[in-house]
Parts: sequence; C-alpha cells; structure tokens
Amino acid sequence: MENKILKIGVFTSGGDAPGMNAAIRAVVRACAYYKKEAYGIMRGYEGMIDGDIVKLGPRSVGNIIQRGGTILKSARSEEFRTPEGRKKAYDNLKKEGINALVAIGGDGTFTGLHKFFQEFKIPSVCIPGTIDNDLAGTDYTIGYDTATNTAVEAIDRIRDTALSHNRLFFIEVMGRNSGYIAINSGIAGGATAVVIPEQNMTFEEFYKLLGAGEETNRKSNLVVVAEGSKIGDAHSLAKQVAARSNYYDIKVTVLGHLQRGGSPTYFDRVLAARMGVAAVEGVLAGKNDAMVGIKDNKIVFNEFDTIMTKHHDIDAESLRIAKILSV
Ligand code: F6P
Repeated sequence: MENKILKIGVFTSGGDAPGMNAAIRAVVRACAYYKKEAYGIMRGYEGMIDGDIVKLGPRSVGNIIQRGGTILKSARSEEFRTPEGRKKAYDNLKKEGINALVAIGGDGTFTGLHKFFQEFKIPSVCIPGTIDNDLAGTDYTIGYDTATNTAVEAIDRIRDTALSHNRLFFIEVMGRNSGYIAINSGIAGGATAVVIPEQNMTFEEFYKLLGAGEETNRKSNLVVVAEGSKIGDAHSLAKQVAARSNYYDIKVTVLGHLQRGGSPTYFDRVLAARMGVAAVEGVLAGKNDAMVGIKDNKIVFNEFDTIMTKHHDIDAESLRIAKILSV
C-alpha cells in the first residue's frame, strides 16, 4: 500500500442519497484500519472552498449506518466551477495536509473532481452515490435501491385508492435524465405504462397504450412517469389525456424528495460498505481520477474518461418486460 498518503478527505456532493452515511462510515473506518487519518469536508466543494473540515475517527461515524441523508451535508457548488474557487479549495486541503480525496456523489461531483485532479494532481477516487443510477461503469449507485423501494411502497398505496375509485393515476418519480427508478418501480408496482426520458415514445403512442384500457374496460390505471419524460411531466400528461377523453377520472401524485430520504436498504448499506472500503484501498494502491463501480457483483475501478461520456442505458429487457406486462 502507498505510504505517502497519510490524510484522506471524504465528502458528499450533489443530491444526497440514502446510504451515503454508510459510505462515509466505511471510508473513515477503512482509513483507521490502514492507519491513515480521515477528514470530513462539510457541504461538498463548498466546504472545501471555505475550509470547513473536521477530523473524523471510527467513533465519530458510529450509529449512522442506518440513517438517510449525509452527516457531512451536501451542496452543489457554483464557485468550484471557477479556477479561483478550486485554487481556494486546494489551499485549504494543503493547509490541513490532506493529500487524497474520496468523493461520494453523482456525475457533477465526478466532473468536479476530475477537473481538480487535472489541475492539482491530488489522488482521488469517486464513489457513485445518487438515487438516479445514471452512471455508466457501475450496475448500481448507492441510494437507488432504497429510492426505488420507497417509490414502490408509494405506488402500492396509491393502487389501493386508485382501485377503490376506478381512477387513472399519474405517479411522477425522480430522474431528470434517467428512467431507472421509473422503469423498475413501474414493473414492481404493476404499472400500466411507464414513461422515461430514454424512450422515443410520442404522446400518440403513449395514448394508444393507455387507450387500450378503454377497449379492455380497464378504468383504474397506474402510470409511472420519470420527471425527465420527453412527452411531458405527470401534470402535463394528465392534462393531455383529459383533453382527449372523458373515460378516466384522473389524479396526479408527484413523489418528489420523499424518494431521497429514509433509512437505506440492506442492499445500499452493503454496497456502500464495499465501495467505501474499495475507495480507500484504491486510492492507497495508486488509483487516480477513477470511480469505484460494481459490475456483475465485483468491485471495479473506472477511469474518468471511459465512463463520463456514456449514459447508463436502461436494458432493453426491462423495457420489453414492462410492455408485455401492461397488456
Ligand atoms: O440527481 C438526483 C436527483 O434526485 C434527481 O433525480 C432530481 O432530478 C434532482 O436530484 C433534484 O435535485 P434538487 O434536490 O436539487 O431539487
């Protein structure tokens, strides 16, 4: 293991995700195991710029494995996009003697870290933490499993009331550019249709899919819509359908940020534990400018350039299954 690295800074950035705390805990404890010092950088890149940095030990991360959110807090930093902001951040790390970084976040976090690495050459590894599951190079991101389970639970509840009143519900789930939560909560929640940003479905095609309900006398329907849908969000789709047909009694539920909170599932906790330990071991073994991932249940390291240009595609099988089961 590389000895030159003595102090490792860990931070969370971008949208929080359930399991981030479990990842912080794993990073801090792996640091202690390998006799390195761990420092928590508060509020992501914002705290790096402000010098808001705290020393962490194995006991400071006790009792957080089950907690949603992030004890280090999170932010999206505009200042870090500027060379001046990044220089301030570097000076603060230098002052503390921090000579390696582990970032937990999504594509924005990784992009920031990449730029920082190019400028200051601080060994750095990113852990994918986002409910969106939109990063190429990993089958799963931390938080996605929990968020999807939360969405499924909500869909089940809505199903009860939808059935009782013979209503058509549009349920909007998160995912600005990604349909992962939508497609899998839709399949698991037994949705009639799922609308995701990755699909090239026109409104006409969607309406036809839904209109099949009229032919089969299906009055109660659940449609799961990813917020980044190209044919309109849940409210807009509800309006468009209402303008075309009086057949349905239509309601809309936007799940929003409730998908981001809550206690992480076993899956996300174990994923976070594995990725947290791997990130520390990776950075000590000389990994740079890389993202930890999980592929076929094995830990992998992805170089920045090889993954940031790609989208984590929804597999064709999921789309096919959703379609077949909406008959
Ligand atoms: O990237 C995670 C995510 O939850 C997206 O699914 C969503 O579009 C976005 O963050 C919401 O961001 P904010 O919390 O800043 O409104």
